[in-house]
Amino acid sequence: MEQMTAPTSFDAMAVCGAGTMGSGIAQCAAQHGLRTVVYDVSAGVLAKSKLAIESSLAGQVRKQKISAAAAEYTLQRVHFTTNLAQVVAPVVLEAIVEDYSAKVGLFRQLAAINASDTIFATNTSSLSIQLLWAQIDRPIAFAGLHFFNPAPVMKLVELVQCDATHPTTTDALLRLAAQLQKTAVLCTDSPGFVVNRVARPYYLEAMRLVELGVATPEQIDAVLVASGFKMGPFKLMDLIGLDVNLTVSEQLWSALGKPPRLAPSAMQQALVQQGHLGRKTGRGFFAYPA
Ligand SMILES: NC(=O)c1ccc[n+]([C@@H]2O[C@H](COP(=O)([O-])OP(=O)(O)OC[C@H]3O[C@@H](n4cnc5c(N)ncnc54)[C@H](O)[C@@H]3O)[C@@H](O)[C@H]2O)c1
Repeated sequence: MEQMTAPTSFDAMAVCGAGTMGSGIAQCAAQHGLRTVVYDVSAGVLAKSKLAIESSLAGQVRKQKISAAAAEYTLQRVHFTTNLAQVVAPVVLEAIVEDYSAKVGLFRQLAAINASDTIFATNTSSLSIQLLWAQIDRPIAFAGLHFFNPAPVMKLVELVQCDATHPTTTDALLRLAAQLQKTAVLCTDSPGFVVNRVARPYYLEAMRLVELGVATPEQIDAVLVASGFKMGPFKLMDLIGLDVNLTVSEQLWSALGKPPRLAPSAMQQALVQQGHLGRKTGRGFFAYPA
C-alpha cells in the first residue's frame, strides 16, 4: 500500500542479502545511526559479513576516522539473522542474487510480514523495477535504490522510479539517502539505469582487447589508471564480482535487443563457470591470496 506521507527520518532498516553489497549497505546504515537487520539465507555469509564490517570499522579506528566507542556502537546496531520473520522494518532494501524469481519470491514474503506503509527498495543493477513490482503482485511502495561498490565509501545512489513508484516513496528514499550521506540521483527505469548503461562498453571493450591479444589485463588497467580512472576495468570487475558483472551484461544485452557490440564476453563466461568470481573467491582476472 502506498503511504500518504513520507517519514522525516528512519530509525531502522532491514537489508536482505549479506554479500558484497548488502554487507556494505548495512555497515553504512548502522554507521549513520539506524538499527539494522541483515538477513541472508546463509549463516556462513552472515558470519563473513560480520567479520567484514568489524574489519572495516577497525580500519577506520586505526586511521582515527572514528573512535573505538563509535565502532562498538555501530556493531551493536547490527543484527544478523537467517530468520525471515525478523526482517521487519520501516524500510527494507533487497540486495540478494540478481535474479527475477529470487527477488520476487523474497518481496512477496516480506510484503506479507511487514506493515502496509513499509518502503521496499531493490539494489538491482540491471533488472526492470516495473517488472519486479508487477510480479510481486501486492501493492507495495517500491523503487530501485542502487548503491555502488564499496557501499560505505561510494557517495552515489541511483534512485530508480518505475511507473508504480509513488512520489511519497521517492521522497522517503531521498530522505534515507540523505541520512546515509549519499548523493541520490533520480533515474527512470530503463536497462542498466545510467551508470551501468554507460559503463558497459568500458568492461566489454577491455575484455575484447584481451581476447584479441592486443594487451593483458595488467596493461589495460595500468593504462586506464595512468589516464585518470580511479581503477582499471579488470580490478573493478574483480571487486564487483565477475558473476554479478556478467549477469548485468547479459540482462542489458537482452533488454536492448542483443546488439553485437554489447555481447557478453566469452572469457568472462569461462571464468565464472570455473568459479573464479573475483575478490570474493580469491581469484578472478587477478589472484587475491587470503
Ligand atoms: N557487486 C556489485 O558491485 C554491485 C553493485 C551494485 C548493485 N549490485 C546488486 O546488488 C545485488 C547483490 O549483489 P552482490 O554483489 O552483493 O551479490 P553477492 O553474490 O555478493 O551476494 C548475494 C547474497 O544474496 C544471498 N541470497 C541469495 N538468495 C537469497 C534469498 N532468497 N534471501 C536472502 N539472501 C539470499 C546470497 O546468500 C548472497 O550472500 C544484486 O542485485 C547486484 O546486481 C551489485
